[in-house]
Amino acid sequence: MSEKKVILVTGGSGLVGKGLQTIVNTEEKRDDEEWYFASSKDADLSNIEQTRKLFEAKKPTHVIHLAAMVGGLFHNLKHNLDFFRINMQINDNVLNTCFQLGVKKVVSCLSTCIFPDKTTYPIDETMVHNGPPHSSNFGYSYAKRMIDVQNKAYHIQHGCHFTSVVPTNVFGPYDNFNLDDGHVLPGLIHKVYMAKKDNTPFVIWGTGTPRRQFIYSLDLARLMIWVVREYQEIDPIILSVDPDDEVSIKEAAEAVVEGMNFQGEVTYDTTKSDGQFKKTASNAKLRKYLPNFKFTPFKQAVKESCEWFEKNYEIARK
Ligand SMILES: NC(=O)c1ccc[n+]([C@@H]2O[C@H](COP(=O)([O-])OP(=O)(O)OC[C@H]3O[C@@H](n4cnc5c(N)ncnc54)[C@H](OP(=O)(O)O)[C@@H]3O)[C@@H](O)[C@H]2O)c1
Repeated sequence: MSEKKVILVTGGSGLVGKGLQTIVNTEEKRDDEEWYFASSKDADLSNIEQTRKLFEAKKPTHVIHLAAMVGGLFHNLKHNLDFFRINMQINDNVLNTCFQLGVKKVVSCLSTCIFPDKTTYPIDETMVHNGPPHSSNFGYSYAKRMIDVQNKAYHIQHGCHFTSVVPTNVFGPYDNFNLDDGHVLPGLIHKVYMAKKDNTPFVIWGTGTPRRQFIYSLDLARLMIWVVREYQEIDPIILSVDPDDEVSIKEAAEAVVEGMNFQGEVTYDTTKSDGQFKKTASNAKLRKYLPNFKFTPFKQAVKESCEWFEKNYEIARK
């Protein structure tokens, strides 16, 4: 019998953490694993004493580190210093505490939005540090990139098994549906909800032509569970659907219209900017390890997210 794993998930109350909770409590339940999902109420991880107290109490053997200060474009633009400092503090506190307490494996979370602004496509894991990130979110991006630097340094100096994953745009139940501060897909879901309620047109910002790779939080959870159990590298791994499964904002909006059963008018406000046309990520490394992994069909995942939002409107972050 292998020794029991105690897996602590920081940021366990957010979009990605809730996805993990769902999968861990159903299809991936194992007797030799005990999972604990921490929120900022358990400990403010930018504070070292609170971080140590949480880790000393839970005694994790494995950690999935999701906790981060995250935000939309406008929040980032105005607060790059805060995003840098707070995320650096959180990551340094978590990783150093893991080292001091002898945690066997740590899986932290980077993001495809931290890659160089000027790059070639598809982007892959080797390109994280190849040039400055986009100026709008450089504080967040550099703090995230430093996780990869820390992972390598802990490995070289102390032999630690600290690694990271790089998800593309995540969506699903418990997302942030705020119209100003959230991501594109939950924003579209919220907008259709309002259009349906008020009997007004559904207005999509921009032309609808930009393309994005979306990953359902439950699929991301399945992949992260594989990473914490099986993945041996220190270098990051991109967790994304195949490049062929990239969808346009128009296709995403149509999936939301269908998922919400919206019968009203759909229009595009082309005076609004489109943002980057595409930022395709390669999942070749993931496919090398898991050639047969099946992602939930996009329309089905969107429908499930729409149903969750309608059912949980009162408690949803918005
Ligand atoms: N969403 C995406 O599209 C996406 C894409 C790529 C990577 N990621 C990464 O995935 C991870 C999780 O993101 P998410 O979308 O699940 O974010 P989220 O829904 O906003 O959740 C953030 C989590 O971090 C916790 N947290 C924030 N500040 C904290 C602090 N000072 N101390 C302790 N906990 C703190 C929050 O706790 P409370 O609930 O108590 O506030 C929450 O559990 C992040 O590292 C993010 O960078 C996300």
